[in-house]
Amino acid sequence: MSKIQNTTNIDSYNDLYSTMEHDHEYPNINLVRLEKWHLKTPGYVLDHGCGYGENLIFLTKKGYKVHGVEINEKLVKWVELKCKIKQVPLNQYSLELSTSDNKIAQDDETFDHVISLGVLEMLGDKGAATQYVNELSRVLKPGGKMLVSTLHPENSFVVQSSQIGSEQFSFSGKEMDKETQLKYELYIPNNSDSFAGLFPESCYVDEIGLWNNVYCGVNGKHYCALITKKITGENNG
Ligand SMILES: C[S@@+](CC[C@H](N)C(=O)[O-])C[C@H]1O[C@@H](n2cnc3c(N)ncnc32)[C@H](O)[C@@H]1O
Repeated sequence: MSKIQNTTNIDSYNDLYSTMEHDHEYPNINLVRLEKWHLKTPGYVLDHGCGYGENLIFLTKKGYKVHGVEINEKLVKWVELKCKIKQVPLNQYSLELSTSDNKIAQDDETFDHVISLGVLEMLGDKGAATQYVNELSRVLKPGGKMLVSTLHPENSFVVQSSQIGSEQFSFSGKEMDKETQLKYELYIPNNSDSFAGLFPESCYVDEIGLWNNVYCGVNGKHYCALITKKITGENNG
């Protein structure tokens, strides 16, 4: 199986997370809304690419049990420490360092829900993004809900990048107020239909939503796919 993403991106995360100075104390506001509107029923959640862990901590407070996966080892240790400090009950979360191949370690249909926010673009190209989405779908239970967000072509990050292929961009520079010099290869879908087309037959794409914060000179537009895994025997048409 091919690599999930190129090592340029992984090296850049290592630089970005060499200190935790950009940690934030709040979950993604869109997740706060979508938890109510799309996930709805507490259960076992995979937070793939959990970053600084605020979304994971938020979901545990809402009664979910959350498994956080990260490709950056420092973040795994950091989130573990934060969960201890914030006294998140040990039986409500677990953390795992992912590998850079395209496999998610868990068995098929392990999770009631899956979230992956701001990870897809980092996989570098459409082939890796498709394999990744297939893996996320595989570990989701029938009837389970999934949220997958990714950068919109108008996002400032994409606008500052150079197009190097079909739905593929290269970013070299600094992120907002951060000092670290970064280099990423990004997968950016051309439009919502292309994004929806990544999801396998086993899933309903309920909606491709958008969120868009524009302030401080930054356009933070993202697509967010709201997905339900089909129940066996349901009309697959
Ligand atoms: C933009 S951050 C988003 C973090 C978090 N999901 C949030 O919404 O705040 C992307 C995160 O995905 C992680 N990541 C990127 N590729 C990954 C992969 N293949 N497996 C697991 N984590 C990955 C990065 O290390 C980074 O922490």
